[in-house]
Amino acid sequence: MALLLLAVVAVLQPLSADEGMWLPALISQRITDMQAKGFKLTADDIYSVNQASLKDAVVLFGGGCTGEIVSDEGLLLTNHHCGYGYIQRHSSVEHDYLKDGFWAMNRDEELPNPGLSVRFLERMEDVTDAVLKGYVKSMTELQRDSVIRVNSAGLISKAVEGGKGLRATVEALYYGNQYFLFVYKIYRDVRLVGAPPSSIGKFGGDTDNWMWPRHTGDFSIFRVYAGKDNEPADYSEDNVPFRPKRSFKISRAGVKTGDFTFVYGCPGSTKEYVTSDEVRYVSEISDPQKIDLRTKRLDIQKKYMSRDQAVRIQYSSKNASVSNAWKKWQGEVKGIKKMHTVAAKEDFEARFKQWAKGGEYDGLVEKLGGLYERRDPFYHAYEYYSETIRAVELLQLASSVERSLIEKRPVKGLAESFFKDYYQPIDEETFLAMFDAFDKNMDQGFKPAYFRDELARHGSVQAWKDYLFANSIFTDKDKVASLTPEDLDKVAADPACELSDAFTAWYAELISPVITEVNSEIRLAYRDYMRAQMAFEPEKAFYPDANLTLRVAYGQVAGYCPADGMEYAPVSTLKGIIEKDNPDIFDYDIPQTLRDLYAQGGYEDQPVCFLATNHTSGGNSGSPVINADGNLIGINFDRVWEGTMSDIVYDPEVCRNISLDIRYLLFVVDKIGHASYLFDEMNFAD
Ligand code: ARG
Ligand code: ASP
Repeated sequence: MALLLLAVVAVLQPLSADEGMWLPALISQRITDMQAKGFKLTADDIYSVNQASLKDAVVLFGGGCTGEIVSDEGLLLTNHHCGYGYIQRHSSVEHDYLKDGFWAMNRDEELPNPGLSVRFLERMEDVTDAVLKGYVKSMTELQRDSVIRVNSAGLISKAVEGGKGLRATVEALYYGNQYFLFVYKIYRDVRLVGAPPSSIGKFGGDTDNWMWPRHTGDFSIFRVYAGKDNEPADYSEDNVPFRPKRSFKISRAGVKTGDFTFVYGCPGSTKEYVTSDEVRYVSEISDPQKIDLRTKRLDIQKKYMSRDQAVRIQYSSKNASVSNAWKKWQGEVKGIKKMHTVAAKEDFEARFKQWAKGGEYDGLVEKLGGLYERRDPFYHAYEYYSETIRAVELLQLASSVERSLIEKRPVKGLAESFFKDYYQPIDEETFLAMFDAFDKNMDQGFKPAYFRDELARHGSVQAWKDYLFANSIFTDKDKVASLTPEDLDKVAADPACELSDAFTAWYAELISPVITEVNSEIRLAYRDYMRAQMAFEPEKAFYPDANLTLRVAYGQVAGYCPADGMEYAPVSTLKGIIEKDNPDIFDYDIPQTLRDLYAQGGYEDQPVCFLATNHTSGGNSGSPVINADGNLIGINFDRVWEGTMSDIVYDPEVCRNISLDIRYLLFVVDKIGHASYLFDEMNFAD
């Protein structure tokens, strides 16, 4: 089956130009198209198991970003926002690397990052037949799952045999119509080499996030270390810089409209093949309600952050992550509306149903509709619970402390890190707003009995909140820090713990079982529906939805029209940074050095960021952006707001990825970091 699908795909085009995230091992199916659009290398240059290829210079960085190797000594580039947590961990009042930047001036000054690893892809391989070996059509879905589990375990253990630091996974693609084995080598000594000050690396902050024109110097620099044998090793002073099979050459030639670009990285999750019902749920229920709830939370945070510098620092990272998805969802809803995706999918489904009549796929869309109808109220309750009750930090603390005590782990460190960034007035106001929303918007039948009883007992959310914060020990750092496993009974009876436990039990007993059960039916139906869509549109090329595995997206440098009467150019420059510069606005307050440099003249046209049509998603942050010759021209870090619906539907008119121009990285390393010694180990193409 799989083979047949792929053979068909070979000559086909995706729905629209430049849409798609393709599997590197199958890139030969797209190489003619890539070359027609300007690419000058071969499929083997992108991915090969027999010789070094570009894939050997691309890594999954940490748990959810991409990085690329740019020297023969393991030098790695990724985004500032991907390195942020590590930079923060090395920061203190005396050395505020987040604020001031960090530059190792030699190898001895590079900083180790316990817990950080990078993952190289050794190979990927279609294992559909091996995974399904022993499966027969008469089996139940449970039996099929167990066949897959057993076969996958066998493939995985064989794949990692004898290699150091190897890890393998078997991933379902196209909703389980195809299975691929991925074999990775994981290096776990990764050191911080350089990071610009946040006023460059996070320039524009949340104001400019998801937006064009953009001027963020969103990069950080690391180095991968290995044991003397060049194999993965735990951190040790004796480790040596990793010698990669392949690294990127850097091109300083620059970009212009129409230039071929390709992004090689690890997009996390997309759902391009879902039904109109799912798109309707996302764009009319899920996103709007989450946006609304987060608006309330962000307003509360902002109010206190603007009053007090210490609170601003405490909540900057929390605020950024709440705000990131909040802003993305707004763009997504707008994009789906503008594209009329629900109607377009309905229209597609009408034609599909006609075609499917009487055949094996008859009734599939209706079946999915029924499943969504069963799932949605429960899914809505789950999403509402995570965005309201779980937004109260005190309840989160209560449940993690309880868990630690049960597992007899110390809680002192937990208490310290929690209270370092905790401001109780924000949490109290959040409690009020979130519990009020839960009370008003959740169907009575879906509310936990505990919630209804407590609310009735206290008479109002306000009275309940006052009681809870006055009587819980979790507001007191010293008390929390001194808890031991002997205190477990006392802790379990604490009002914050009782409350969070009641919700956890409600979710585990009433909500999650239904979601899990229906989801598995939905997944099964999509396996058929995916195959059916391929059969229905045999002339179309289908790429598998993203799942954090390595993908290739290709397109070209291009601006776009965000609204009637407007046209965006695809390139931004230092001139734009100076235009935005404002010492009174935190997000736009640039380092004095940059102001002084600019005043000297000659840097007006220094490129900063550029736009292209590559189809990317969350996880592609830090991905290498590569030109027609296979050289590095930029680092991907974001998408434009008008195009954030590309996880569901790609619009070639407005879907653009935003990249840092590699020349801005070089400029900052040299002029701000005074670390141009790093250029000695880089390879330049021009
Ligand atoms: N929007 C980008 C992404 O989804 C960047 C986020 C980090 N920046 C920020 N200002 N929150 O990851
Ligand atoms: N900023 C995203 C990331 O961190 C990339 C995107 O969603 O376009 O992966």
